[in-house]
Amino acid sequence: MSYRRIVRPALFHLDPEKAHLLAIRALRALGASPRLAAALRARLIGPPREPVRVLGLAFDHGLGLAAGFDKDARALWGLYALGFGFVEVGSVSARPWPGNPRPRVFRVPGERALINRMGLPSQGAEVVARRLRRRPPIPVLVNVTPTADPSLSGQAKIEDVCRAVAVLAPVSDAFVLNLSCPNTPDGRTFQEPEALAALLLAVRAHWGDGSRPVLVKVSPDLAPDRLDALASTALRMGARGFVATNTTLSRDGLPAPPAGGWPAGGLSGPPVRERALAVVRRLREVSGKDAVIVGCGGVESRRDVERFHEAGADLVEAYTGFIYGGPLFCKAVLR
Ligand SMILES: Cc1cc2nc3c(=O)[nH]c(=O)nc-3n(C[C@H](O)[C@H](O)[C@H](O)COP(=O)(O)O)c2cc1C
Repeated sequence: MSYRRIVRPALFHLDPEKAHLLAIRALRALGASPRLAAALRARLIGPPREPVRVLGLAFDHGLGLAAGFDKDARALWGLYALGFGFVEVGSVSARPWPGNPRPRVFRVPGERALINRMGLPSQGAEVVARRLRRRPPIPVLVNVTPTADPSLSGQAKIEDVCRAVAVLAPVSDAFVLNLSCPNTPDGRTFQEPEALAALLLAVRAHWGDGSRPVLVKVSPDLAPDRLDALASTALRMGARGFVATNTTLSRDGLPAPPAGGWPAGGLSGPPVRERALAVVRRLREVSGKDAVIVGCGGVESRRDVERFHEAGADLVEAYTGFIYGGPLFCKAVLR
């Protein structure tokens, strides 16, 4: 059945979060049998043709699913079946958190973009850790964030992240610290070098046996000098690299707003691509060849993946492109 002509128009009649829930359910059904999931994966993307080794982990190929789609690790086997080379689960917080009131996800179909202000809902680290005990044979990166509870601040927030890391370390291949959420009042506090240094110092003590690599996820909206400061602090404090980037608060690349203006929230999809590429380029320049960079933002095609690699990315991941591209996204991009 054609996704673009039949399934997507039907799904796009629904509220985006309802459509997302249906997609998660369908993926759970698809992944119910690991053997069938492996067979479907083989049929869709064939045997590993472009294996890569990054962060000491083996990837069939370097195209993954970005954070936010499978926040609570509910659909990993289905995503494996669809051919993703890795999945970034999360954002996960130590405690369960409901996120912002709905509606909080909006489509901009003309630009194949999304605007979201989810506000970091999570079922919490313990639930996610339990689900991750039964996971498919691809690298799973776990994206961790401070619980978005506004009553948490300073040291309490650091301890909150450490709790999540300690619970998740035994079942994660690597961590991504999401310090660039534009949708909570202080979701970006830890992008300040001093706060970041304090956080990484504390988190280091909780990296499982100390061997779990940690990446820092950055915003596309940082001024170059602030990005440089963040990058050097992160690497000095033991982070292995970056995920670049998160969503943007900018509305560049969108047409004239509808009556009432664009909804508040972070913009993703093609309008963020050039910004994300610029951030990857700059991070590669200032952090040298050893830092690991996962490029993210507006990836829809093989050419987009190549452009991120040319900019300096080691791996590439997508979210919005998968929503618009559908279940054959990996097959189409890897072709
Ligand atoms: C609905 C939605 C929810 C998201 N939730 C998260 C999240 O929980 N944590 C995070 O680090 N990034 C989150 N993101 C950001 C994506 O991981 C990605 O960085 C961003 O969307 C840019 O990539 P894309 O253009 O391929 O979507 C979310 C994005 C969307 C569209």
